[in-house]
Amino acid sequence: MEIRYLGHSAFELTHEGVTVLIDPFLTGNPKAAASAEELTPDAILVTHGHGDHLGDTAAIAKRTGADVVAIVEIAEELRGDGVQNLHDPNLGGTVTLDWGTVKLVPAWHTSTTPKGTVNTPAGLVVEFGGSVIYHLGDTSLFGDLELVGRRHAIDVAMIPIGGHYTMDRHDAIEAARMIGARQVIPCHYNTFPPIVADVEAFAADIENSTASEVIVLAPGERHTA
Ligand code: NI
Ligand code: MN
Repeated sequence: MEIRYLGHSAFELTHEGVTVLIDPFLTGNPKAAASAEELTPDAILVTHGHGDHLGDTAAIAKRTGADVVAIVEIAEELRGDGVQNLHDPNLGGTVTLDWGTVKLVPAWHTSTTPKGTVNTPAGLVVEFGGSVIYHLGDTSLFGDLELVGRRHAIDVAMIPIGGHYTMDRHDAIEAARMIGARQVIPCHYNTFPPIVADVEAFAADIENSTASEVIVLAPGERHTA
């Protein structure tokens, strides 16, 4: 599976002609590596409703007819926006699509959409193309991250490191240790002034104190998992 980092918390996963977008915040994202108009996903997965994650979901879904997986309150808002192919799990639920599965797991954060819909944030465990991807969404450090790593053999974990709105790069080390992913991709940093982080120091700490390999991607860069 190929992973393309689109900046901030947005990723595009591709395998055998199927494309899956996670948290497509592109319009208004100073680090966006693509425009919403040029993406043609088969599915869009949303961790939570904040504008820097929900982003261009409705516009892309309405243009492409992509499946959208989002927690039930966000799915209901998107239904009102005219999105067609909605899947509305809650925490603990798994959605099965043609290409793989998406499970919602807890994340410790807050969330209200730009339109005002209150919703519970989630992390996403995605099985696709023979790999297990864990996108943590926005979260602080909490002990149940370890449960996710115990329950699923994670190949690649996308972990926020920017601090201020999420865990910082120091807490992210402990998160990586608990999750035990084969590879870790840092995200949610350097997009805005409050979340500037030293990614090279994070990478060094991961290599020195966990069993995970760190993959640092600049926006637009790709990694084969
Ligand atoms: Ni958030
Ligand atoms: Mn965020």
